[in-house]
Amino acid sequence: MHKGIFITFEGNDGCGKTTVSRRIYDILKQQGYPVIYTREPGGISIAEQIREIILNPDNTAMDARTEALLYAASRRQHLIEKILPALADGKIVLCDRFIDSSLAYQGVGRGLGIEEVLHMNGFAVEDHMPDATVFLDVSFETGMKRVQLRGNKDRLDNEAKEFHLLVAKGYEEVKRRFADRIYCVDANDALDDVIAHTYETIMEILKRYV
Ligand code: TMP
Repeated sequence: MHKGIFITFEGNDGCGKTTVSRRIYDILKQQGYPVIYTREPGGISIAEQIREIILNPDNTAMDARTEALLYAASRRQHLIEKILPALADGKIVLCDRFIDSSLAYQGVGRGLGIEEVLHMNGFAVEDHMPDATVFLDVSFETGMKRVQLRGNKDRLDNEAKEFHLLVAKGYEEVKRRFADRIYCVDANDALDDVIAHTYETIMEILKRYV
């Protein structure tokens, strides 16, 4: 049993997850909560190095299972080096993406199967699942438009529309499967509204632990 609270943020590309979760971190920090912010793939040196390999647009030859294994390897190291120690220290850990991303992107986007990817990730995370997950729900068109606007696209951003449609379908399945821990926030609204709704959701989650 850990003492802290593990909260992940998930969503399709262009949902605004990184901007929103960083802002929530700033607000909680300012209010005096014992909170840390981290992200996947990455969060610590070894995992950031793996991130470079996975997201390098030149690595077009990467096999889907290799990709899934690299995400899981990065997750394992991040969990051991950063997430679990922070939770043991009683921290609220806000993590931009975690296992649900692998289930949606590799499980359904790459067609490896949710069951298989969940099973493979079991080796990496053991029983350390998020306590709660905020899902930023953006329409497919809005998400894609935001990705196009931001430029500087990584290897996954460069995938065809069909891949991103499958990922969105994958997330729908993940939301059904883990309905007990997933909280949805409408991410189509203006940024300030999304931040406000996410903050309300986070307060709802934290209330369960005090
Ligand atoms: P980011 O854009 O949120 O930084 O994430 C980088 C990309 O990696 C994004 O397209 C989602 C993808 N991804 C996976 O495909 N599987 C995973 O397990 C994770 C954590 C991310």
